[in-house]
Amino acid sequence: MLGDIGIYGFRVMGENLARNMESKGYTVSIMNRTTEVIRDFMEGKGKGKNFLPAETVEEFAASLKKPRKIMLMIKAGTTVDATIDVLLPHLEEGDILIDGGNSNYEDTERRVHALQEKGIRYVGSGVSGGELGALYGPSLMPGGSREAWPEIEEIFRAISAKAGVHGDEACTTWIGNGGAGHYVKTIHNGIEYGDMQLISETYAIMRDVLKIDNAKMAEVFSAWNEGSLKSYLVEITAEILGEKEADGGYLVNRILDTAMQKGTGKWTVISALEEGQPVSLITEAVYARILSSMKEERVEASKGVTRPEGETPETGKALKALEKALYAAKVISYAQGFSLLKAASAHYHWELNLGEIASIWRGGCIIRSAFLDEIRKAYDTNPALQNLMLDSFFHDALVEAVKGLREVMVLGVTHGVALPAMGAALSYYDGYHTENLPANLLQAQRDYFGAHMFERTDKARGEFFHHDWSGEGGNTASTIYKI
Ligand code: 6PG
Repeated sequence: MLGDIGIYGFRVMGENLARNMESKGYTVSIMNRTTEVIRDFMEGKGKGKNFLPAETVEEFAASLKKPRKIMLMIKAGTTVDATIDVLLPHLEEGDILIDGGNSNYEDTERRVHALQEKGIRYVGSGVSGGELGALYGPSLMPGGSREAWPEIEEIFRAISAKAGVHGDEACTTWIGNGGAGHYVKTIHNGIEYGDMQLISETYAIMRDVLKIDNAKMAEVFSAWNEGSLKSYLVEITAEILGEKEADGGYLVNRILDTAMQKGTGKWTVISALEEGQPVSLITEAVYARILSSMKEERVEASKGVTRPEGETPETGKALKALEKALYAAKVISYAQGFSLLKAASAHYHWELNLGEIASIWRGGCIIRSAFLDEIRKAYDTNPALQNLMLDSFFHDALVEAVKGLREVMVLGVTHGVALPAMGAALSYYDGYHTENLPANLLQAQRDYFGAHMFERTDKARGEFFHHDWSGEGGNTASTIYKI
């Protein structure tokens, strides 16, 4: 018997993905750098199942059907390059290597090209859904060597989460060439950062302004999970808020308020700057994690500074506003994220299908939610949609929901509760819907001190002018360049 696919790297994600594959009828070759892990597994959960354990790379390669399909479930970064180097001498032309880690898309782009020259088909695949997703059905975002897709599509479809009314739409699709798969996973994670920050800000208003207890908060999030906010992250938030320790104390109240991060949010923001896309909400979410990590500084700074005593709002009314605010900010965040995907797609010639991306995020992944179905519909109806906020469904939904966002911002401002992500959402919404921004003044300032020139409202676009503001300037304008 030969393996249909091999999993290299047997930490929890690798193990669970292998178990998922085996449960769908595939024979899975498995290997880990430290071999005890595989031995233990074969004596435990793997016993009597269709796994082919390997102790050496030779054994591993020999145990696989050709063309070989090997999925790397290892730490992103240099480990991936080192592992490719170890495997390469045992591979043949046409074999397929899949990186299922959270690799940087630029690394994946490089690896796809380097391995193509050696005849190896390389795929960088986003895998979302955490440990349980890997076991029961993740959202899979493969990209890279297009010719690999027909070979792996069946397995990917079989193991992925299923969504749709009949629960039969596989949460995977071919994303695009080069680093497209890992790029889309990166933006997924950026959006995840935004969602988590928004939920945390909602919690901050509940805890510090409305002063409601955890049991009530858990109840509110559970109720919201029945409506337009229905999502995995809202669902687990309700569970987290209600979780108690043996002595009856709430666990979340005992967790230190310093958030960590592994880098995908930062990569999203770097890419947004490079693409010239205002992805302000995710940027604020990354900054909020950084600020949270400055615990000692914050403790020191908070001494002697009292929060303003705003008026205590009526709880029921405030909770209604909060529900709307969270929904509005979430839609705005996705509008930013999808605009970034659109821009990057054009830049890298990936031809990303935004409707399909929304579709495969409906199940399995961390940001899965009811309203991704509406996003899918919006892009299916108009694949060239400039901005999600311009879709008629979201346009109308936002007109109403943004009212709640404004109310919540007032609560934050008057009670001294920081709401960086919600604030970013509202500013983006207001800015995007403003015909005349104050950038005319900014352009005048640039021209004043640097002769950077400006366009005029009474002349055609593309014609640039310089004014001698001080009466002492020269008449040479600096060159025009855009980012
Ligand atoms: C997923 C997650 C996952 C990510 C964690 C942690 O889709 O399953 O996005 O890939 O690693 O969420 O990310 P941070 O440590 O950066 O929060």
